[in-house]
Amino acid sequence: MLTPLALIAKRWTPTPRTLQRAALSAVVMSVLIIVTGGAVRLTGSGLGCDTWPKCTSESLITTPEQGIHGLIEFGNRMLTYVLSAAVGWAIIAARSTKPWRRGLTRTAWLMFWLVMSNAVLGGISVLSGLNPWTVAGHFLAANALLAVAVITWQRTREGDAPPRPRVPGPVRKLSWAIVVATVLLLVLGTSVTGSGKHAGDKSEVPRMPWDWTDAAHLHAVSAWVVCALAIAMWFVLRMVDAPDDTRKRSRDLLIVLVAQGVVGYVQYFTHVPELLVGLHMLLSSLMWIAVLRLALSLRERPVEETPEVPAQPDAPLTTAV
Ligand code: HEM
Repeated sequence: MLTPLALIAKRWTPTPRTLQRAALSAVVMSVLIIVTGGAVRLTGSGLGCDTWPKCTSESLITTPEQGIHGLIEFGNRMLTYVLSAAVGWAIIAARSTKPWRRGLTRTAWLMFWLVMSNAVLGGISVLSGLNPWTVAGHFLAANALLAVAVITWQRTREGDAPPRPRVPGPVRKLSWAIVVATVLLLVLGTSVTGSGKHAGDKSEVPRMPWDWTDAAHLHAVSAWVVCALAIAMWFVLRMVDAPDDTRKRSRDLLIVLVAQGVVGYVQYFTHVPELLVGLHMLLSSLMWIAVLRLALSLRERPVEETPEVPAQPDAPLTTAV
């Protein structure tokens, strides 16, 4: 028997452009949900809705008594539906490609499960009274979703042949080092927020148990490590005469890294004003995208020539990134 997805696939074939747009919309929505999630925290609206999944124990939606904070938090919750629609579109488009791209469909489904986990983590954050550990976990899970969205988007723009390196092995190792150091940098960023004045943005929330200044110093050191690795990558790509697009991606990473570093220091010395913290969160998403795009540009997966195949029934999905 055909599943609903297989039925759609039987009747509809997306153009490559539609497929790419669907995946790109998931990337854009992931960034938007991170930034609006930040706005919820920074405007002190984290408990704008008193409970989860309902907004109050009696109402599914925000009530006039909850005021602007209710609207902000409820708006962020509503964006989850737009994000889910973007992810759903990506799943349907991936499933409807001919021949069926199972690996791509699998990464699209992974986005769906990450959205679900984030909805639950967001709920736990509210139910735990904005505990900084759950807020940090929620932020990091949103970045995991962003990573899978970027990979899915990249996979829509290439084929399914096995990955082929475009630069020598040590350069790819350097790119892995950048990815790992960036993950550490993001985690350390949440340790600054969690011990600082914007943790959950409710003064009575117990902070992470360390000194805010020490956490900020460690976070800045890790930013310098990423910076050193990114500069090394920029030089190395020139030395090995890497393809133009990889060099451009390494340049993009340096630009966003410098901008983020400047915002980081300015907010540190100006008592973390909300607007700058929001900008720091937006730039952290853009930097994560730049790191991933650089890593993904160091390999290629050409399109395999395959004959036209009609829609196939669902079956277990397997493939590599
Ligand atoms: C250049 C790469 C950098 C990245 C990718 C980055 C990323 C982050 C992230 C992800 C957070 C946590 C956001 C949250 O939990 O909601 C954060 C917080 C923070 N970062 Fe950075 N950061 C960078 C550089 C810096 C630098 C150089 C400084 C200078 C000291 C800095 C200062 C801060 C401060 C003060 C916070 C806490 C803001 C708050 O109270 O919410 N950052 N950063």
